[in-house]
Amino acid sequence: MCGIIGYVGKKQAFPILLTGLKRLEYRGYDSYGFSIFDEKGGIFLNKKVGKISEAEKDFLGMDIQGTVGQAHTRWATTGKVTEANAHPHFDCAKEIFVVHNGIIENYGELKNKLINEGHQFSSETDTEVLAHLIEKFLKEKNKKGEKRKLEEAVKEALKLVKGTYGLLVMSKSEPEKIVAARLSSPLLIGVNNGEYIVASDPIAIAPFASNIVYLNDYEIAVITPGNLSLEKERAPEKMEYESEEAEKGSYEHFMLKEIMEEPAAIESAIKGRLISQDGEVKLGGLDSIAGRIKDIQNLILVACGTANYAARTGKYMFEEYAGISAETDLASEFRYRKPILSKNTAAIFISQSGETADTLAALREMKRKGVLTIGVTNAIGSSQSRETDAGVYIRSGSEIAVASTKAFIGQLTALALMSVYFGRKREMAMVMGKRIVDELSVLPDLAQKVLKNSSHIEQIAKKYVLAGEGKGFRNFWFIGRKYNYPVAMEGALKLKECSYLHAEGIAGGELKHGSLALIDEQFPTVAICPSDSVYEKMVSNIEEVRARKGRILAIATEGNEEIKKLAEDVIYIPKTLEMLTPILAAIPLHLLAYYMATALGRDVDRPRNLAKSVTVE
Ligand code: G6P
Repeated sequence: MCGIIGYVGKKQAFPILLTGLKRLEYRGYDSYGFSIFDEKGGIFLNKKVGKISEAEKDFLGMDIQGTVGQAHTRWATTGKVTEANAHPHFDCAKEIFVVHNGIIENYGELKNKLINEGHQFSSETDTEVLAHLIEKFLKEKNKKGEKRKLEEAVKEALKLVKGTYGLLVMSKSEPEKIVAARLSSPLLIGVNNGEYIVASDPIAIAPFASNIVYLNDYEIAVITPGNLSLEKERAPEKMEYESEEAEKGSYEHFMLKEIMEEPAAIESAIKGRLISQDGEVKLGGLDSIAGRIKDIQNLILVACGTANYAARTGKYMFEEYAGISAETDLASEFRYRKPILSKNTAAIFISQSGETADTLAALREMKRKGVLTIGVTNAIGSSQSRETDAGVYIRSGSEIAVASTKAFIGQLTALALMSVYFGRKREMAMVMGKRIVDELSVLPDLAQKVLKNSSHIEQIAKKYVLAGEGKGFRNFWFIGRKYNYPVAMEGALKLKECSYLHAEGIAGGELKHGSLALIDEQFPTVAICPSDSVYEKMVSNIEEVRARKGRILAIATEGNEEIKKLAEDVIYIPKTLEMLTPILAAIPLHLLAYYMATALGRDVDRPRNLAKSVTVE
């Protein structure tokens, strides 16, 4: 949520900040801003509404000098999308500049106090209070009666703040310095021969440095040319990030590139982890807790958004194959519940970014209560992966499009692997483990087969959104049962977020309890009905829709000819084990959302009002 980048070194800061900011744009993109100090005491301050990627040409020919600077791309939380509300924010004298991710929850109270003390505000944001608080503390002397340094003033200001932050501060009084601080919002410092690139995401650092330091919560770092001063000195770590992952290559959109990488996401998740002859899987990240797995009596799977649908699919896997009672909840709900926990409860947190604020808060609450915490994460080195007791990386590679696609496939694959790992430490027979492991090993090829249908899926997508009675359909049901009920919800969410069409995913069996009232020729239903244990039940639900003149688009198993009589359109997926069908069924749904959204001319990689990594509650 929002992207931050700062540079301190010998090079010109602007090109580095611009490159970094463009790479960060997927985190928030309603406005952007820069503050750069030059050697003559001048400042380049530029804030604009819009997307930085579309504004690059505006900077052509500008002489932007300076080797210390910071920049920000915003996803509005407090205050509308305006130039004044874009970061950096500044104090009364325009001497102190702050870029910030997160939320200052008590900003109203702080702002009133500062106004009473004579401060003048120029934005509606929570962030601006930080600039004025720092201004105030810089003017006051410290306990020893000396003039405060910038970092001391930042420290004093942060003592008054309730909320979360990843922030950078620059002051004209100390123009060679950036002060960085974090609390529950990531900040990383790339280190490269005396120059430093500090950012909220490794994607912005990758082109410039390969070693990084992760800033800790409550830690303040002081960055000057050739020197990084941390509260707890430590050596930089090698950053595990492939820079080219953030390139679109020949694809028109990241979303399409990432869907096309779904077979590779499965391949990468299973690589080196399947032991066919023993019917086992190897998950090094769980080894430290291997001895505790047979004692787990109940699992709680917690996540947000798409990851929540992976969690809900995982629940069926763990119950059916690991024999563990499992429940799921949205992190934003779970963290405020009083769940019934025992010493044999374990909680699994699923998050692509590993930085989602609600998921992290739920994780921290479970740790406080002494529950065993396990992470399923994509982002290496993320807060979630560092704070859980054990975990599994899904290894999907970076995901740039705001709507999660390949990471969902990676999460489902990791959960399938984990249910075998858990199952084999409990009652699962070797033959059952072997069946799943062997089927997982061919899944990348089966997924590739689904993608071969992409032009057929594109035609169907266009027909549904453009052709229906001249203007296309605007409402969709997605229905599924058992393993594919969460996939129905994922299909609907993907369509909603990328195309802005109305879609809802519900359990096939629930249709008759109200939702059928909406069915008519203009309200199509996407039915996920592979040939599995609930296929007949799905057929009954499809008949219910047809009886009310509803149109059906079916996702069915290859070889099922009967479905053609029931559905207006059919997209086939290859046969696999029932527990793995969600992985194959999600692929055409992702493509459907992509093609429907692009047919309507939507900005699929950066849908309106959304952000990739939601680091506010
Ligand atoms: C945002 C993204 C979704 C994602 C959700 C959870 O809303 O747009 O695609 O599913 O956050 O993110 P996480 O990083 O925790 O998986």
